[in-house]
Amino acid sequence: MPASNAAVQKLSDAEVLERLRALRTKQPVKYTAFYSSQLNGIVTDPALMVIPFDDHMVHRGHGIFDTAGIVNGKIYDLDAHLDRFLRSAERSKLKLPGSRADMRDIIIKTTAASGRRDGSIRYWLSSGTGSLDLIPVAGADPGFFVMIFPGLVYPEKFKTEGVRVMTTTYPIKPPLYAITKTTNYLPNVLMQMEAKEKGFDNGVFIDHDGHVGESSNMNVAFVTHDNVLVHPKFDHILSGCASLRLLELAPALVKQGLLKDVKVDHVSMSDATAAKEMLLIGSSVKVAGIVQWDSHTIGNGKPGPIATALLGLLEEDMRSGDRLIDVPY
Ligand SMILES: Cc1ncc(COP(=O)(O)O)c(C=O)c1O
Repeated sequence: MPASNAAVQKLSDAEVLERLRALRTKQPVKYTAFYSSQLNGIVTDPALMVIPFDDHMVHRGHGIFDTAGIVNGKIYDLDAHLDRFLRSAERSKLKLPGSRADMRDIIIKTTAASGRRDGSIRYWLSSGTGSLDLIPVAGADPGFFVMIFPGLVYPEKFKTEGVRVMTTTYPIKPPLYAITKTTNYLPNVLMQMEAKEKGFDNGVFIDHDGHVGESSNMNVAFVTHDNVLVHPKFDHILSGCASLRLLELAPALVKQGLLKDVKVDHVSMSDATAAKEMLLIGSSVKVAGIVQWDSHTIGNGKPGPIATALLGLLEEDMRSGDRLIDVPY
């Protein structure tokens, strides 16, 4: 903020550009490419990666998003992320800017333009610009944006020592909003801030029936004492693409004798805290062992063997599975 009102002045176009660039030099951002349907093109200067203030995603939260990973120069599991994006668009009554194939192609081309071979692709759909009202402006074009960035980074201790979580005091989103990946992440943000303030790594939502939900931007799962991998049902939480993929890959651990079974079911708080292992799962964190929940130590207080085995399966799938898309760099 300027020190005094004397610094508040009308700006020329050139001054705006200069100030947008100055803002970015103050922040260590590494956004390497951004596509905007409003610009009908890709920009690589972070100062130009902007969305108009009257886009309804900005001032009303009428927008959705999703994030897929770039691994060794390939895009991982994009179609699962696009399926979820389209489901979220439909539930949010958002018009699409074109066909699914068009959006997929733009995502791949923006990735290529970025030159980034490891990182993340986040893309958004908005109901467009044109007013500060609630419902979309008649005839407004939907906004489609794609950002290529390094991805979220988690502390190394998540892997080595494990993660500590608390039951959040914030209410879980009602199911319709929890299963839809909208830009309304206020409960998720507050949950993570609360956890950090209280000395934990993250929070967990519990629903009104006492069932375990999910964490801020990750799912949770459990390994029971008789070695059953149990994932909470997806009717009140986001369908995590990493979780869904791991539920397909985990039967390999049943074959190896590491697990007895793999199930999706409601998980009560008491079953959860009694688990042998508790896992945090997501495209960004991959798989991390949770070692403490509130005052309960999970298992022996160290990340367990199933967390390690599931991480191995996911990493292998990201390296050489059949869900990789070539990028024409
Ligand atoms: C609320 C929420 N739950 C779970 C997840 C995990 O989803 P994914 O595995 O697709 O990253 C995310 C991340 O997008 C999320 O935001």
